[in-house]
Amino acid sequence: MRAFHGCALDNHDFDDAASELFEPFFEGGLSRPYGNDETADKHRIEFVFRPYSPSDRSAVFRLLSILPSLYPEGDLWLERRLQDVSRGKARCMIADTRRWGAVGLTIETPKGPHKVKLSTIFVDPCFRGYGIGSALLRYCRENWTREKLRNVYMTADLRSAGVMLPLVTRFGFELVTTEFNRYGRDRHEMVLSWLPDQK
Ligand SMILES: CC(C)(COP(=O)(O)OP(=O)(O)OC[C@H]1O[C@@H](n2cnc3c(N)ncnc32)[C@H](O)[C@@H]1OP(=O)(O)O)[C@@H](O)C(=O)NCCC(=O)NCCS
Repeated sequence: MRAFHGCALDNHDFDDAASELFEPFFEGGLSRPYGNDETADKHRIEFVFRPYSPSDRSAVFRLLSILPSLYPEGDLWLERRLQDVSRGKARCMIADTRRWGAVGLTIETPKGPHKVKLSTIFVDPCFRGYGIGSALLRYCRENWTREKLRNVYMTADLRSAGVMLPLVTRFGFELVTTEFNRYGRDRHEMVLSWLPDQK
């Protein structure tokens, strides 16, 4: 185990064979904008975005271990989604650090012709605030724009509104409605729609 920012993280050795399969869509480093200059350099992390591969399965389940507490049978849902990704029927982008492994991801699911749901966006709590969430959304938005999608939506737990709304509205999402008690008592779900022409 390796300590980082007060969080206990699994050690992840990135072997050479795996790195040959590494197909970065984005490669760069990001720093936390919070804190002084001295700590900012120390907290810089290098990461790449790459598509999911089946060897990521356990890392993804570990990252999204919160899912079953948010959604009934969330783990079964994730299993099905990852199978869809492996069959090319859904898209999963991994934000990967060479040192700590997968620290964030998006899962996008087609819901009909020209309609896509951003099913999941998640960043490991230890790595939040580096701009990984923003970079993932920027990457998705570029794809949606290139693919001329008109109907992109996402849903999110209302309790995440404080951090989620400022972020996703910056990338063109608008809160459409909130489904109260959608996943049980006091489990309210926001529904957000992407407006392609606005941002
Ligand atoms: C929403 C989420 C993806 C953002 O990821 P992130 O990597 O922290 O995003 P960014 O670093 O790009 O930050 C986005 C905004 O969050 C806020 N923020 C993040 N960390 C912060 C910190 N330490 N202090 C203050 N604000 C912070 C800022 O408003 C920031 O915007 P800025 O660029 O103007 O500073 C992440 O918080 C998350 O995964 N939350 C849980 C999401 C969830 O529950 N998903 C459903 C489960 S499937």
